[in-house]
Amino acid sequence: MNNYFITDYPFSINQRKNSPLINFVNKGLRFLKTGYQVGQLDTSLDMSTVEQRINYYHLLEEVIAYNVPGDVVELGTFTGQCAALFQKVIELTGSDKKLHVYDTFATPFTFKGNVEHELMRNFDTAGLKQPVVHKGLFNETLPEGLPEKVAFAHIDCGFGGDPQEHKKVMLYCFEQLYPKLTKGAVCILMDYNDPKENGKTLDINPGVKLAFDEFFAGKPEKIVCLYGNQYQHAFFRKQ
Ligand SMILES: C[S@@+](CC[C@H](N)C(=O)[O-])C[C@H]1O[C@@H](n2cnc3c(N)ncnc32)[C@H](O)[C@@H]1O
Repeated sequence: MNNYFITDYPFSINQRKNSPLINFVNKGLRFLKTGYQVGQLDTSLDMSTVEQRINYYHLLEEVIAYNVPGDVVELGTFTGQCAALFQKVIELTGSDKKLHVYDTFATPFTFKGNVEHELMRNFDTAGLKQPVVHKGLFNETLPEGLPEKVAFAHIDCGFGGDPQEHKKVMLYCFEQLYPKLTKGAVCILMDYNDPKENGKTLDINPGVKLAFDEFFAGKPEKIVCLYGNQYQHAFFRKQ
C-alpha cells in the first residue's frame, strides 16, 4: 500500500503538461537541490492541492485504522477529486465503509459538461466502486440522506459567493451532521482560514470560519488548521 496515487490522474489536479516556464523553474529547483518541484494549479477547476490531499489521506486512513464507527461523507463533491481519493483509501485499506456524496452538480465553475457524469467517469477511470450519490441542495438531501453514523466528513461547498449565504449553508451542514458524527470522527473543513494561525490574509470563503465560530461556541471540539499551500483547510475531531 502506498500513497503515490495522490499525484496521479485522476486523483491529481490535472492532466495538463507543465508550461515551458514551469519546466524551466523546475530545472532551476533541481539545480539548486531544493528537493522541490512545482506544478500548475488552475484555481477554477483544481479544487484541492497535493498538500491537502496528503492530509486527507492520513486523516481518513487513521480513522479507519482506529476503527471509528461510521461511513464517509462529502458535502460538496463537484467532479469528485477528493471523493475519488476517499474511495481509494477505503479500498486500499479493505474497509467496509461506504462513501456518500452530496451535491446539486449544478455549479459548473469553468467545467464544460455534465458534472455528475464527470464524477462517475472519474471513478470509473480510477477503477473505483461508485459512491452513493445524493443529488440536490443540502436542505433537500440532509438529514434523511445521511448515514446513521459518520466517521469521516469533508465539507467543501464554497464557490466564492456571499460569505453570509455560505455561512448559512455551513451552519445547516453542521446542524445536520454533528449529531451523526461518532466519537473520534474527523470532519475536514475546506477553506477554513484563520489569519491568526497562518498569517495568510487571502480568505476565499470566509463563511466557513464564521459558521464554525458560531456553531462550535461552547462545544468541546477544537479546530486544527492544516498546511494546504495555496488553499486553506482545517479539521476537528468529534469529542
Ligand atoms: C468547491 S466545489 C467542491 C469540490 C470537491 N470537493 C472536489 O474535490 O472537487 C463546491 C461544491 O459544492 C456544491 N454546493 C454548494 N452549495 C451547495 C448546496 N447548498 N447544496 C448542495 N451542493 C452545494 C457545488 O455545487 C459545488 O459542486
